[in-house]
Amino acid sequence: MKKSQLNSSVFFFVLILSFSVSWAALSSILDVTPGPEDFLSCIRSYSNNLTSISEHIFTSGNASFLPTWQVHVQNTKFLKPSTPKPSVIVTPVDETLVQTSLHCAKKHGYELRMRSGGHDYEGLSYTADVPFVMLDFTKMRSIDVDVANSTAWVQAGAALGAVYYAISQKTDTLYFPAGVCPTVGVGGYMGGGGYGNLLRKYGSAADNVIDVRFMDVNGNILNRKTMGEDFFWAIRGGGVSSFGIVLAWKLRLVPVPEKVTVFILNKTLEQGATELFYKYQTVIPAIDRNLHMRTQVFGEYIGNTTKKTVRIMFEGIYQGTINTLLPLLNKKFPELGVTREICEEVRSIQSTLVFWGLPSSAPIEILLNRSAIAKLNDKTKSDYVRTPIPINGLRKIWRKLMENDESGQLMINPFGGRMADFSETEIPYPHRAGVLLQILKTVNFQDQTSDTTPTSLKRIAWLQSLDELMTPYVSKNPREAYVNYNDLDLGVGNANYKEASVWGERYWKRDNFKKLIRIKAKVDPLNFFRRPQSVPVFSTPLSDI
Ligand SMILES: *[C@@H]1O[C@H](CO)[C@@H](O)[C@H](O)[C@H]1NC(C)=O
Ligand SMILES: *[C@@H]1O[C@H](CO)[C@@H](O)[C@H](O)[C@H]1NC(C)=O
Ligand SMILES: *[C@@H]1O[C@H](CO)[C@@H](O)[C@H](O)[C@H]1NC(C)=O
Ligand SMILES: *[C@@H]1O[C@H](CO)[C@@H](O)[C@H](O)[C@H]1NC(C)=O
Ligand SMILES: *[C@@H]1O[C@H](CO)[C@@H](O)[C@H](O)[C@H]1NC(C)=O
Ligand SMILES: *[C@@H]1O[C@H](CO)[C@@H](O)[C@H](O)[C@H]1NC(C)=O
Repeated sequence: MKKSQLNSSVFFFVLILSFSVSWAALSSILDVTPGPEDFLSCIRSYSNNLTSISEHIFTSGNASFLPTWQVHVQNTKFLKPSTPKPSVIVTPVDETLVQTSLHCAKKHGYELRMRSGGHDYEGLSYTADVPFVMLDFTKMRSIDVDVANSTAWVQAGAALGAVYYAISQKTDTLYFPAGVCPTVGVGGYMGGGGYGNLLRKYGSAADNVIDVRFMDVNGNILNRKTMGEDFFWAIRGGGVSSFGIVLAWKLRLVPVPEKVTVFILNKTLEQGATELFYKYQTVIPAIDRNLHMRTQVFGEYIGNTTKKTVRIMFEGIYQGTINTLLPLLNKKFPELGVTREICEEVRSIQSTLVFWGLPSSAPIEILLNRSAIAKLNDKTKSDYVRTPIPINGLRKIWRKLMENDESGQLMINPFGGRMADFSETEIPYPHRAGVLLQILKTVNFQDQTSDTTPTSLKRIAWLQSLDELMTPYVSKNPREAYVNYNDLDLGVGNANYKEASVWGERYWKRDNFKKLIRIKAKVDPLNFFRRPQSVPVFSTPLSDI
């Protein structure tokens, strides 16, 4: 196995070399950029329908190449000329073209990147510094909701907003426990875990995946039964793109009441935000599973003054009525001051709008309209909190936020409830019992021309210093991180277990990471599905380490 790996990497290197030489030579003579003819003629040899090829395959010479690439670059910091683009974009409409693309990419030494929604924080689903073919699943996004069985089959390119919309067209008493960003594509999302407003009642999205249509490295289409439980375990939280290509997931839909209650309120430091947050971090992770309460923390100026404060926005969603929510909060968290006036009973589909920052009266069709949903332009890091942050720690964090130029914020989700019912090894996603909070720390570059302006660089440095400042207050050994908020700063080394554990154990913890490595060695021994921070293949079997 070692020998063939070596051979294939030498072969690959030679291919890149000859490819780039001929590319450079040709384009300087002809002043054109030739398409990757090797890949295209391979595809043509499998299809005699040239119309179909020209509709679904794009190279840099095609007018629609760039727009097709750009449309789902969800983090706009990657929208710049210097970002490496694919050699070929394939937008398959059926599984046959996925299979042919896999075969031709392997044959001609391209890496393959799969993009379902394009939310991958490091852009790894649509950029690479090696020649690669990008499979964009936008055209494979059917959603088939089976109300009687409480299940849905969703193709990889479907976005979460469309899944919720499709469910809501059939019933208001089922939903799916996933995130609130409507444009996130389900293909990659479920493969990394996935959390949302129903996590305290029903667990992560991956906990509610019950079957799959999946293409392995040999082009075989597998399901849960034919792939086996270990393989099926790996792709629900282990970072699915390390293992193959998701075509569709089968989801278990969960019961929800016809109306849920939502509320939002702000508290500043002057209004006791610190003490409220101190209490929040122990009360909410232990409260009734029907209640979820996200917080967002901002450092900002007070009105028109030059004095800063911290504002915490508490956003609640309760699987029940106002009449049952109020007594619960009065008993457990009266200081928060939630009143009937700020509560609203809405359909679950409307609660998704509210948590996306829209009024509950916004048309739900907006969840289907990808161009109506703002893109991100930011850098993000994640943390998990397992012991309550003391008041003086909170004050330090707030001071840090106030140093920032209002480009930074925290987004915090309390855990507990159902999340703690699963063992850390149930699926690869390990952030379970004992986690009080998941914290996302972010800076945005919305007002900057790029993420490399002096101001942007200052913001990134600020984010790093916030990360350092929080070290004493967050999980340790490992300091846990969320793989769906992938962060290459954590490291990319993968020559051996020791190197890879630096980032791998943060995403999955040791037992799960080792199991993922063993499964990877079986199902993709030549490491075709690779990219920075993919589950590695070592030349020495893990048991020898
Ligand atoms: C070829 O593909 C096009 C576009 O996908 C389709 O409309 C047409 O029916 C196909 N032709 C044949 C002969 O299959
Ligand atoms: C795109 O370019 C390829 C060659 O790279 C060509 O065969 C194909 O017809 C073009 N398609 C369109 C839609 O322009
Ligand atoms: C549930 O799914 C099975 C298999 O897809 C199907 O045969 C059956 O009709 C469904 N049950 C109901 C009540 O719709
Ligand atoms: C919270 O504060 C922000 C910023 O001042 C404001 O836009 C928002 O409307 C406030 N929300 C509520 C419910 O008061
Ligand atoms: C804040 O400042 C702006 C511009 O200087 C002014 O138009 C506005 O009236 C001020 N608002 C308040 C509440 O003082
Ligand atoms: C989608 O949103 C965009 C931007 O807000 C808008 O221009 C467009 O009309 C919307 N499309 C539909 C079908 O609603």
